[in-house]
Amino acid sequence: MLPLRVDVSRETITYPIEIKSGHLKNIGSFLQKLKIGTHAVVVTNPIVRKHHGNTLLSSLREAGFEVEVLEVPSGEESKSAVVAFELIAKIAEHHAGKDVFIVAFGGGVVGDLAGYVASAYRRGIPYIQVPTTFLAQIDSAIGGKVAVDLPFGKNLVGAFYHPKVVYSDITTLLTLDKRQIRNGLAEAVKYGVICDKNVFFFIESNVEALLGCNEKVLTEIVYQCSRIKSNIVSRDEREEKGLRVILNFGHTVGHAIEAACDYQEYHHGEAIALGMRIVAEISLQMRLAKEDDVNRLNHLLSRVGLPERIEGPRLPEILNRMRHDKKFKSGNNRFVLMTGLGSVKVREGIDPQIIQSAIEKYSGNS
Ligand code: GLY
Repeated sequence: MLPLRVDVSRETITYPIEIKSGHLKNIGSFLQKLKIGTHAVVVTNPIVRKHHGNTLLSSLREAGFEVEVLEVPSGEESKSAVVAFELIAKIAEHHAGKDVFIVAFGGGVVGDLAGYVASAYRRGIPYIQVPTTFLAQIDSAIGGKVAVDLPFGKNLVGAFYHPKVVYSDITTLLTLDKRQIRNGLAEAVKYGVICDKNVFFFIESNVEALLGCNEKVLTEIVYQCSRIKSNIVSRDEREEKGLRVILNFGHTVGHAIEAACDYQEYHHGEAIALGMRIVAEISLQMRLAKEDDVNRLNHLLSRVGLPERIEGPRLPEILNRMRHDKKFKSGNNRFVLMTGLGSVKVREGIDPQIIQSAIEKYSGNS
């Protein structure tokens, strides 16, 4: 068990991250002990339900829970305010007056959507995260930020709302395709760069085993990344102390690339990998990072099979999207830059020429 302690406004919230292979079948008895409620509303998508639904649902039912499954289509379109309020209406209709809790059973979309529904219904009901993608297990299920999108922007409706447990079963990763594993590995590499060089070295030594879904190495990397994220979130839950910001390494540029490509071309981790290459280049040009470390990062991202160049003529659109990033403080640019493997620094007001030339270096038609 990896305990996660988060301090929120003088009140302490503590919840575990349970990481193991094959413990999904025990989730019912685990939740009985947690005394979380009697009626489980499982929010999931058809793919996760097909692969792992029986295991979860049987375990919950055998433990005596009343269970309802609410399926949403796979994909980002489900992470919308409209879908969230449809779910809330169904829960209110079917479970009025019941001791209900929500099970977010899927990847990042389901986790954010179900977490937001839990935060909003009756001003907050208990929920748990059961992440089934690599990216969700090491990143999106941990941290308490839940949100849905509006037609004019992502994550515009949301809350800080923590689950009672993050229950990560490594065997759910074995049904993922390689692209999804690569996608998660981009964030794992990020953790290595921002705060733990041993995690970076571990990925370097185990790329093939990770891509081959070796359960032992996957368990170790999920554990290490969960430890890093929970540690950062515990010290700066609401991004107020300047600590949590380092999780955005590669994300300002990465988000701009995703948006410039209308969220079609790249999966999140792929865009973040490009973002990390670009901020590493900015770090190099500003003489903060050593060439060897930047080359080592780029080499590892390539070995994982993450993109090396931005496809198409995107530069003006990427620059424009970056200017509108809500993380740019009062119009001033702000980047998390690497100073070595395992260490980063936040810098503001970077010369736009340096940013532009770093993006150009990784642009397909430069
Ligand atoms: N839900 C992801 C985070 O809080 O960072």
